Amino acid sequence: MQDQDPLVYLNGEMTPLSEAKIPVLDRGFIFGDGVYEVIPMYARRLFRPRQHMARLFRSLNAVGIHNPHSADEWMSLIERVSSALASDDQLIYMQVTRGVAKRAHAFPQGVTPTVFIMTNPFTPPAAELCENGIACVSLEDKRWLRCDIKSISLLGNVLAAQYAVEHGAMESIQFRDGFLTEGSSSNVWVVKDGKLMGPPKDSLILEGIRYGLIEELCRSGNMPFEARRMTREEVLAADEVLISSASRELLPVVQIDDKRIGNGEPGPVFRKLYAAYQDAKRA
Ligand code: PDD
Repeated sequence: MQDQDPLVYLNGEMTPLSEAKIPVLDRGFIFGDGVYEVIPMYARRLFRPRQHMARLFRSLNAVGIHNPHSADEWMSLIERVSSALASDDQLIYMQVTRGVAKRAHAFPQGVTPTVFIMTNPFTPPAAELCENGIACVSLEDKRWLRCDIKSISLLGNVLAAQYAVEHGAMESIQFRDGFLTEGSSSNVWVVKDGKLMGPPKDSLILEGIRYGLIEELCRSGNMPFEARRMTREEVLAADEVLISSASRELLPVVQIDDKRIGNGEPGPVFRKLYAAYQDAKRA
């Protein structure tokens, strides 16, 4: 029960995080050749585990990494890691790389994937962020064209996140050829005339687990929803803009670059969806 140096799972062993080691020839280290997941746990219950597991399997399949575990085995590994931490709310991180092999780009034969699971206590975003909203910056999406894969090769996302930090913003909102894609580590939502809109679920964005949840919340709350391409001008002229992710839940964006969004305050669609999100995570 040591949250400072929690027990993590690495290739069959539970070990303190500070002692978990991988060989330098791990292809995750050498090539960024791996995939990952981030799953929230509230009051010791995983939130949307089935959906996260399905996405992990999709990512593994998309990059041709052998899935080393069944869904049940993954669940019991997560249980082993999360039960070693004192916090009831956690953010669980899982990573699978192609494994350790002599450095050569194409897939090595006969390697065993590296499996790593860690967890951290999870504190949802501070209430004042929900009350006041956050500032974002926009930038051109310079990532590769398979953003639907939850790949650990995150340099483009890292640079976008750093761009936000250097501009005093909480998140960067990316546009590709003038159309909205997503944040550095979040999905982006636009509200106009009472309708919520998200970019299409294609290979230019990661389909967040919150994407499906938000669609469900719209359906059950009788809120119109549309997935479609949106221009930068449309985003800046929105009544509301929101971001979502496992770690940020749902946050209202009140400024993008120098432009105020809507009336500069979190709007009614955010408040309704946020309340529904809080209900869903405790359901
Ligand atoms: N990131 N898009 C990108 C590029 C992301 O990295 C994330 C999440 C999302 C939202 O997905 P979800 O709703 O499943 O969290 C969208 C996680 C939290 C991370 O990298 O830490």
